[in-house]
Amino acid sequence: MKEDVYILAIESSCDETAASVVKNGRTILSNIISSQIQLHTIYGGVVPEIASRKHIEKINQVIEAALDEAKMELEQMTAIAVTYGPGLVGALLVGVAEAKAIAYGAKKPLIGVHHIEGHVSANFIEHPDLEPPFVCLIVSGGHTHLVIVKDYGEFEIIGRTKDDAAGEAFDKVARAVGLGYPGGPKIDKAAKEGNPHAIEFPRGKVDGAPYDFSFSGLKSCVLNYINHAKMLGEEICVPDLVASFQNSVVDSLVSRAVSAAKEFGYLKLAIAGGVASNTALRAGMEAACRKEGLSFYYPSPVFCTDNAAMIGVAGYYEWLKGNVSGWDLNAVPNLKLGER
Ligand code: KG4
Ligand code: ZN
Repeated sequence: MKEDVYILAIESSCDETAASVVKNGRTILSNIISSQIQLHTIYGGVVPEIASRKHIEKINQVIEAALDEAKMELEQMTAIAVTYGPGLVGALLVGVAEAKAIAYGAKKPLIGVHHIEGHVSANFIEHPDLEPPFVCLIVSGGHTHLVIVKDYGEFEIIGRTKDDAAGEAFDKVARAVGLGYPGGPKIDKAAKEGNPHAIEFPRGKVDGAPYDFSFSGLKSCVLNYINHAKMLGEEICVPDLVASFQNSVVDSLVSRAVSAAKEFGYLKLAIAGGVASNTALRAGMEAACRKEGLSFYYPSPVFCTDNAAMIGVAGYYEWLKGNVSGWDLNAVPNLKLGER
């Protein structure tokens, strides 16, 4: 009988300090997330310095809680996995240094995990039937990528944003209309009361690159709309405005993801990253996939935004491939997808 593999995973790339114990790559025994969102809200965005300091304060308790919830001891772990990029360098360093210390002290292998590979792997948690290859749309605060997941941890990028990431656009528009930070969930909620067809905003296109995204033109249109209304002394209907903005983003994301799956001949389409928890995006994807005969996969919201369970899943597949990191593992803030 094969021995069970237990991964203790650590994530600290942005404003969540998280730890998780994952069994055999697909079963989550614990998933502890200490969010700093409240702390950063007053500044309207993540303050890197504050994020690093908060990680160092919380990380030991979070790891202890993850082992406790899993009812396991550090000695029982097979390996320690940690996000080493991309992300905020100071924030990443806290997780990487912690993982190295634990792995070295407990004589366990260390596995550096790519944060975006983690987001994609979140889909494996609740879909035991899902295996590569499939097409995945990754939409987070820092990334918007359309990829073919060729195998575990192997990606072919077929489209990316030319300017803002989808989550960044949500955050900037939310700030402009005074909804606060983080913008995505606030817009998602406010848009439910609005008419998505009230204002016809453009769908950003990139000439000669049918699978690339662009959101800066849309963002400028929204800002111009707000300034114009202010100049005329007209009141803005925030729910209509954000519902129309969200509709434009969702349209761009759904149309490209579905046509990519069709053109490249894949029947499975998944979404990942913080924006993947957006209810309009999930509904739009679901409807388009049903129409085109594609199977649609998406993680629960808790596995869409930053968490360590997804890092444990990705870490397991890296472990199976023998991708163990050296003691010189460092934080790589601009780590590219597909790089190790
Ligand atoms: O994946 P994530 O937690 O962190 C990064 O790796 O960037 O994504 C955070 C992003 C933020 O921009 C946030 O506004 C967005 O995901 N987000 C959403 C929703 N929930 C989070 N965007 C749209 N709708 C949501 N429900
Ligand atoms: Zn993330």
